[in-house]
Amino acid sequence: MSKTIVKVENAGMTFDTKKGKFVALRDIDLTIAEGEFVTLIGHSGCGKSTLLNLIAGLTLPTSGNLICDGREIAGPGPERAVVFQNHSLLPWLTCFENVLLAVERVFGKKEGKTKLKARAEAALDMVHMTHALHKYPHEISGGMKQRVGIARAFAMEPKILLMDEPFGALDALTRASLQDEL
Ligand SMILES: Nc1ncnc2c1ncn2[C@@H]1O[C@H](COP(=O)(O)OP(=O)(O)O)[C@@H](O)[C@H]1O
Ligand SMILES: [Mg+2]
Repeated sequence: MSKTIVKVENAGMTFDTKKGKFVALRDIDLTIAEGEFVTLIGHSGCGKSTLLNLIAGLTLPTSGNLICDGREIAGPGPERAVVFQNHSLLPWLTCFENVLLAVERVFGKKEGKTKLKARAEAALDMVHMTHALHKYPHEISGGMKQRVGIARAFAMEPKILLMDEPFGALDALTRASLQDEL
């Protein structure tokens, strides 16, 4: 048996809305082992993004516990990289700078500038974005933004890759090649 890396125990998420409480998740139990590939499938609005946000530590559950690598998930961390459905790139940074910023956060203390830049370039090359390194998010298409978001997450070499419908906005050829890389 491989080691458990993520454990969701009896988790629930209830949102306070203008119309009162809305229960988005209830009694969720999920155990993910190291090296395991898990996909959540369900209709729109069933709570996939809500659960992913909890594992990412972007929101905290209203009940239950989430554990990553033996520790309670209390916030986001570089060992859990997220590819967002809406890509969430910083608009004032180029594609290259968006990836470099994440790389610096993770490897900046032990590696020099040249190595960090090489990491960012390699990740963008993997998603076939070398031709648009110095473009800003508003200058590229939705699928290209999505590829930068994927490069940013891959470049962090996280223990866990959390992806929210990451290949939805891509054309079939790019999707196939990125699925292979993944
Ligand atoms: N911040 C929020 N406040 C209130 N309701 C929310 C919030 N976030 C999500 N929800 C609701 O929770 C449910 C699950 O949403 P979501 O996790 O985004 O679904 P999915 O990703 O599966 O399409 C939906 O009904 C959504 O409207
Ligand atoms: Mg969603």
